[in-house]
Amino acid sequence: MNILYATSEAVPLVKTGGLADVSGALPPALREIGLDCRLLMPGYPAVLQKMGTAVVVARFSGLPDAMEARLLLSTLPGSDTPLYVLDAPLAFTRQGGPYQDAAGQDYMDNAQRFAVLSQVAARLASPDSPLEWRPDLLHCNDWQTGLAPAYLNFLGRPVPSVITVHNLAYQGIFPPSTVPRLGLPAESFSIQGVEYYGNLSFLKAGLYYADRITTVSPTYAEEIQREPLGMGMQGLLATRKADMRGILNGIDTGDWNPSSDLHLPGAYSLRAPSGKKRCKQKLQEEMGLDQDADAPLFGLIARMTHQKGLDLVLAVAEGIIQRGGQLIMLGTGDKDLEQAVRDTVARHPGRAACFIGYDEGLSHRIEAGADCFLMPSRFEPCGLNQMYSLRYGTVPIVHATGGLKDTVEDGVTGFQFQEAAPHALWLAIERALSLYADKAAWKKMQLAGMSRDFSWEHSAKEYAAMYREMLDQRADGAP
Ligand code: ADP
Ligand code: GLC
Repeated sequence: MNILYATSEAVPLVKTGGLADVSGALPPALREIGLDCRLLMPGYPAVLQKMGTAVVVARFSGLPDAMEARLLLSTLPGSDTPLYVLDAPLAFTRQGGPYQDAAGQDYMDNAQRFAVLSQVAARLASPDSPLEWRPDLLHCNDWQTGLAPAYLNFLGRPVPSVITVHNLAYQGIFPPSTVPRLGLPAESFSIQGVEYYGNLSFLKAGLYYADRITTVSPTYAEEIQREPLGMGMQGLLATRKADMRGILNGIDTGDWNPSSDLHLPGAYSLRAPSGKKRCKQKLQEEMGLDQDADAPLFGLIARMTHQKGLDLVLAVAEGIIQRGGQLIMLGTGDKDLEQAVRDTVARHPGRAACFIGYDEGLSHRIEAGADCFLMPSRFEPCGLNQMYSLRYGTVPIVHATGGLKDTVEDGVTGFQFQEAAPHALWLAIERALSLYADKAAWKKMQLAGMSRDFSWEHSAKEYAAMYREMLDQRADGAP
């Protein structure tokens, strides 16, 4: 099976969140089990720099906004996965991040930029593709490639398509005047099409036109069929229930392995867990916390947005410290949340610390050095950090939502709480603190988490089975 996997970010080339982790790991995992899965992504400056040797394999003109582009073929660094990079300088050569400028503002022309990506994805899946290699199926991800199933529809649906929802909160909404500029037929701007409450939504387009919809955990697949987590799409999603499923993300067990993680000051494993102590001591040192081997150390790593429930953590920070604990927070995002984190830390020298920014190495050291990991997300399609935590013997405390609910076993590998509110989080923290006082019980919970398997192989097989089913259905003449 040939699969074209279209995405707007992928590790190790460019990352703003978990979508990049998934895009960098799932295609190689699909190749491992015998599929010819290839990536398509934008040629942002960072991608062009890091991608290694590439050859020009096609040229496109007449793209949305009359843009032109070259298609380069390279491989995803660190794997043999073929990587098509869309080199469209007008769209992607920018100073800032993939979606926003250096000041954190969305680029004005994001609609055109990602329409270009979506249209190339669709063209590569059509009989007029300039490439010899043809996908049997197109797999899109989030709003940035959400228009691809729409374009594919107007090309006569030559192959089936899937869209994976990594986060329904980002819907790619633009004014109706954008529609003709993107090469979409006027009739597509309707409720039976790309229209969404009077505007154009790239995500809605994908959810409407794709043959199947997946999301990144079974619980999230249920939650988004209703308010409030349906975020306006619940009606459409409920009508597409039969075509929708939740497939839990895996984690990259090579990058996230405490026995070989080069970011760590000490190695440890399920069989030889003692190196974790050194990681804790070094982390306290690095972050300027009191050297205190017995203090329960709580870690948090997140995009600082409302979704992640940082305000709940700040509300219980005082309590954690009064109970002899310590707290480390890593992240970047909304300026007011960043400031609130800094303020909390300033009130508790030696007991609380933060790094506002993006730091891959530190994220590994927190996962390894902390005793507990806090993830009070208001919603969480899948979440990766709780799985990294389990693998690193760091007990996760999570709000029972989405993928958090599906991956953490309450009282066995971690703690869940039902309501995204400070008092509920606090009760879960208290449960953790009492278990922490019982060394043997604590160790048992750590080891239970470390023994769980979250490798991609299992999820890759589920995707492969779904692709197969879709192609078989098509061969049978079903829609
Ligand atoms: P989301 O995609 O919603 O941000 P996930 O849990 O799926 O949430 O993935 C987040 C990923 O980004 C994880 O790999 C996490 O470690 C990483 N991450 C988030 N913020 C930072 C940061 N400030 N520094 C380093 N890594 C970060
Ligand atoms: C999103 C979600 C996160 C998920 C990730 C990868 O950014 O917020 O929960 O793990 O995508 O699928």
